[in-house]
Amino acid sequence: MSVFEGKVIIVTGASSGIGAGAAVHLASLGGLLVIVGRNVEKLKETADGILAAGGAPALQLQADMTKEADVEKIIAATLEKHGCIDVLVNNAGILETGSIENTSLAQFDRLMNTNVRAMYQLTMLATPELIKTKGTIVNVSSVCGVRAFPGVLAYNVSKAAVDQFTACVALELAPKGVRVNAVNPGVIITEIHKRGGMDEETYAKFLEHCKVTHALGRPGQVKEVAAAIAFLASDAASFTTGISLPVDGGRHAMCPR
Ligand code: NAI
Repeated sequence: MSVFEGKVIIVTGASSGIGAGAAVHLASLGGLLVIVGRNVEKLKETADGILAAGGAPALQLQADMTKEADVEKIIAATLEKHGCIDVLVNNAGILETGSIENTSLAQFDRLMNTNVRAMYQLTMLATPELIKTKGTIVNVSSVCGVRAFPGVLAYNVSKAAVDQFTACVALELAPKGVRVNAVNPGVIITEIHKRGGMDEETYAKFLEHCKVTHALGRPGQVKEVAAAIAFLASDAASFTTGISLPVDGGRHAMCPR
């Protein structure tokens, strides 16, 4: 039997990058995917990828995670279709650059609303269902949650919040048999950096620099994060809760010298 046979799995931000990769991987392991994103066409590409990987057809839900009513609909539509929730992968997120000298409260709000508040709301609403199934949650944090970097202030603060949220909810739900963990990727090749304002040339240099900033000497691939998400969501991690798991080529352990 496949690892996630018959398990209902919600993945947010599944229209691209890590979310898309994780959705396809979890579906290939037998999961019944509910994929959430804003871009309907991109979401369909993920759904097609799931079918190509031999997965069951995914439920595609258009939702803006910063809109409370949209987040409520994710739970309602999932329950209407499947009647339960086994796994919640809180992946949707945005990145912006900005230091204390040039950030703004608007930037703080954007980062916190998308990366933290939306996760907070969806987790809150999914919790009663996850308790019923003794399900599990995987949050997508970042090495930026556990280490300090200049110039991405609001993003770093948001990801530190994700790690604390993960650990606290893990303690709250452990007595109910629900495990809650995070993955903390280093630089992974996706669209997020270019969406965050990097042009092609800067991005190429940034990836080249990853040879120095990551102990393993390279940036990571989406599939490497998807594998870690699948591990934490599976029974293979049955005694693991409250952790922030680096998937970062050793970056979290590095100190400049
Ligand atoms: P991405 O930009 O391809 O994916 C982010 C997804 O979240 C997109 O599908 C985007 O549409 C969605 N999203 C953003 N705001 C949304 C909203 N308001 N409503 C609905 N969906 C929304 O980038 P990537 O890299 O796949 O990012 C996924 C997660 O991984 C994020 O939480 C990011 O912070 C985290 N991460 C990424 C790293 C990287 O180097 N790529 C490193 C560490 C963490």
